[in-house]
Parts: sequence; structure tokens; C-alpha cells
Amino acid sequence: MGTITESNIDIDFSSDTSTPPPGLDLNPEHLEFGRVVAPLWFRSWYREGAWDAGKVEKWNPIELHPAALVLHYAQSIFEGLKAYKAPDGSALLFRPGMNARRMMHSAARMAMPPFPEHAFVEAIRTLVDCQRKWIPDAPGSLYIRPTMIGTEACIGVRASHEYLFYIIVLPSGSYFPGLPPGKTGTVKVLVSETVGRAARGGTGDAKASANYSVTLEVIEAAKKKGCAQVMFLDSSGHRTVEEMGGMNVFFLRGDTLITPPLTGTLLAGITRDSILKLAPALGIAVKEEIIPFDDLIAHVKSGQVREAFACGTAAVITGIESFFLEGGGSVRVADGQVGPVTHRLFDALRSIQYGVSKDPFGWVVKV
Ligand SMILES: Cc1ncc(COP(=O)(O)O)c(C=O)c1O
Repeated sequence: MGTITESNIDIDFSSDTSTPPPGLDLNPEHLEFGRVVAPLWFRSWYREGAWDAGKVEKWNPIELHPAALVLHYAQSIFEGLKAYKAPDGSALLFRPGMNARRMMHSAARMAMPPFPEHAFVEAIRTLVDCQRKWIPDAPGSLYIRPTMIGTEACIGVRASHEYLFYIIVLPSGSYFPGLPPGKTGTVKVLVSETVGRAARGGTGDAKASANYSVTLEVIEAAKKKGCAQVMFLDSSGHRTVEEMGGMNVFFLRGDTLITPPLTGTLLAGITRDSILKLAPALGIAVKEEIIPFDDLIAHVKSGQVREAFACGTAAVITGIESFFLEGGGSVRVADGQVGPVTHRLFDALRSIQYGVSKDPFGWVVKV
């Protein structure tokens, strides 16, 4: 049934999945993030020491042995990137090679086999190409979720000998309910002063599923306090700023944009890296430096820190309205609105991602 493409990926054309069903609302204003999964996936099995060529086909629920290693020892990693619809209707990816390399890094940390960069990018291109009608119009996007799990059945604490790598795609609007897609806004953030996310020597710089499970309790507690995000501090002393549960953080102190350095306990965000390159091109100074939390709060109170924002593929750039402290009380950042530098960066980044403005960095990959 399949056809072998140039890239060797087998495509199953047996089901008509290229067009969304007429009743499905792909208006980005109405899409809840992470809910609608398009019908095709890419999948490849790793068996006897090698990945197969992979296949694009209609996905079905995955059947796993109850003793599959992923279910017991969380041998699971993932990635997140997006396809954007350009004004001429073409589909654009943003720096997919960086996701491929980060996934290889995550795989090495979790004793999993690397999925090669060229195969990763080709799989995404093929899958998006087959489902381009599922990409919502701007300001929506198609969220792409590559995932790798250890599937071998064995209740022994060791690395699996068998893996499934798959990619699903989800038409998406805004990440934060209440913030309209295509516009940035501000959110309240709970500072986790006691619960840590990643320790030195741990897996903080890998996109390992287990990193996220340990944050769920405090994320749920944050929601009860009306906070949309949690900011984590270093796990050893809870004194320096690290990152959010799913985003990196930046602060505008005076005229300089500062962000914590990559010390091994936080994720090397692709949006973070892009902002570190984009801001200087817009005449905004940037600095990576250790940010003691007490200093941050003092500088927010004194007005020296004028803007704060979270950044990531899903949330793009979202301003921080205020920090809520575990012990009670909160500190508002300036007037609690999106600041002008946050706005400029948001607009500049998005117009590159959507192919609206020139891409002097060579970041965008056309499908
Ligand atoms: C823990 C964490 N930090 C930061 C980020 C931002 O990374 P990126 O900009 O590559 O999406 C993410 C999202 O992937 C994340 O999960």
C-alpha cells in the first residue's frame, strides 16, 4: 500500500486523512492547546540495534506490554516545535535541527539510541507535508511533538533494547487559556521556593518526561492561587532563578536583558537561544548571568527590573505580571502589563516564524 519517498519513509495513503473533517473548528481562537491530534503520525521502531526507515500512517492507540520499561522507569523523552502558515500558504518550520540535536542529547542522557538529525527533520517535513491542511491560519500553528519511549518488556532497572520514536501533530491556538493567540499578555507566576525541578547532575538539561512529572504537584497548587506558571529556583539552596516548568525566563534590568546561564540544570530553550541572538540585532543588550532570587525581587520592587517574560515554543513570549511567593504575598513587575521590549521581541520573533519578515539568521525551513 505505501510509497517509498526519496527519504525512504513509507507513506500509507490508504485513508483519506489529509483534509480535516468539515465539522472540525480549526479557528485558532477556539482551539484548546494540546487537545486535537491530527490523524497521521510518523513512527519508527528501534530493534536489534537499528531504526527502521519509518512510516507515515494513521495513528492508533499504542499497545504496550504491562512490563514495558517506559511505564516503570520513565525512559521517555520528547520535543516540541511548530509549523507555521506563511502569508503565501507555505508551511514553515523554525530551527528544527536544534530540536533534533536536543533530542539526541536527551537520548544520550537517558541511555536511549539517538534518532539521527537528518532523519528527524525529514520525518517532520514528510508528516507536515502530508497534513498541511491541518495547519491553522495565523495566528494559529501546528504543534509538533516528537516522542521516544523504551518499549521492551522487562522489570529490571536497565535501559530498554527496543524503542518507539513517533511524531504527532496538533493544530493549536494560544497556550494560555484567556490570552488570545497572536497577542502577548501577562500571567501570574508562583515562585517555587521549596520544591525543586532539577538537581545538579540530574536531567534538567534533557527533555525527559520525568522532569515534568515532578513539577505537576506545584503546578496544580499554583493554579489554585490563580497562577498560570511556576518559576523554579536552584534545587540545592533555592536561591537562584532557573526556569519555568515549560519555559525559560528573561528580565529587563535597566536596559539589559538578563537570563540565567545554561548550568546543566535547565533546558537549553530554542526560543531562549533565538532571543539571545535576536535582541542584539534590535539594539537590545543581553547577558547570561546567575540571578539571585532575593536580588531579583529587590530589583522588581525598586523598579530596576522593568519587564519580565517567559519564553518557549508553545508560549512564544509571555509577559510576567507578578511573582507570588510561597510564604504569601506577591510582587508586581512594573505596571503588570506587557512592556515595550517584550512587545518588540514578540513581534520580531513571530514575524520571522510566520515568514512575514526577512529571516537574516537562516532559521526558517520551508516544507
Ligand atoms: C522546561 C522547559 N524549559 C524551557 C522550554 C523552552 O524551550 P523551547 O524554546 O525550545 O521551546 C521548554 C519547552 O520546550 C521546557 O519544557
